[in-house]
Amino acid sequence: VHKSSVYLPTELKEGLASLSARSGRSEADLIRSAIERVVSGAAEPRTAPDAPAVDVLPRPSLAGVGVGPGDPGLMTLRGRAALAQADRVLVSTTDARSVGRAEMVVRAVAPAVRVQRVPYAIGAGDEARRASMVALAEVAVAATDAGERVAVAVLGDPAQWTVLPDVVDLVVQQRPDLVVVIEPGITAYQVAAATARARLGRPGADLVVSDRLDHVEQQLAASNAVVLYKASTDAGAVRAVAARARRDDGLVAELPGLPGARSVPLVETDDGPISYLATVVFPAPATVPVSL
Ligand SMILES: C[S@@+](CC[C@H](N)C(=O)[O-])C[C@H]1O[C@@H](n2cnc3c(N)ncnc32)[C@H](O)[C@@H]1O
Repeated sequence: VHKSSVYLPTELKEGLASLSARSGRSEADLIRSAIERVVSGAAEPRTAPDAPAVDVLPRPSLAGVGVGPGDPGLMTLRGRAALAQADRVLVSTTDARSVGRAEMVVRAVAPAVRVQRVPYAIGAGDEARRASMVALAEVAVAATDAGERVAVAVLGDPAQWTVLPDVVDLVVQQRPDLVVVIEPGITAYQVAAATARARLGRPGADLVVSDRLDHVEQQLAASNAVVLYKASTDAGAVRAVAARARRDDGLVAELPGLPGARSVPLVETDDGPISYLATVVFPAPATVPVSL
């Protein structure tokens, strides 16, 4: 038996007495249960209260987690669990003083987890970008060497236009036996298509996702579904390509699923740059007109 005295403020003492009377349990029993909850909550796995029970990752391990385009409700249960169980979540950031979109989702779904921002030189040329990637991999290696479960959170899906696959390659080159898992995420274009009730794939049509405007004209002309990432060039240039391909069904989806979300037909957009966090979606044209 471990004996100790604990000072309880009057309000807490009264609440305890009241709960003891209502529940029929002794005050000592209630105090012991409260301590048990805190202690078992601090023990591993450190899951958020509503975190789903999924396989706990070993220590050490590296998890690449897609956090969706920004709405915490669009994260998978496995992704949430991987974040909640992590000892440290790394987010790459262009500004170390700002809470980025991925970090906001992490905070929403795993409030207790430790988040570390690792600088990423996004517009600074190939060499600087490569150096940022190496630096991110180094942080991950150092943390896993210390026995941690490390998660790297990225927007959307980790396999699509993110640094994650390269970072994983760099880590695995150095630590070939490390357990690495990738948790997929919902992409911005999936949310944009769902919001617009648009079809992206249908039999006989391709779904093309590209970040090169000069590559999509043929796809558009062939009546394929086309998603354009990083279309933050001039909206007029995107409109011109769509017009040449005789496609007037493009939608510019900004911040899909988030406050301030806006989806406007491409043909109605003003000239000037499309914002960075926007996806241009040309749905798969319907083959058979639907009528009831
Ligand atoms: C670096 S890529 C990341 C893609 C992400 N991994 C995914 O699966 O959607 C960035 C591009 O994705 C698109 N994007 C990412 N997040 C978005 C969001 N929340 N809303 C709209 N577009 C987004 C934009 O086209 C942006 O230029």
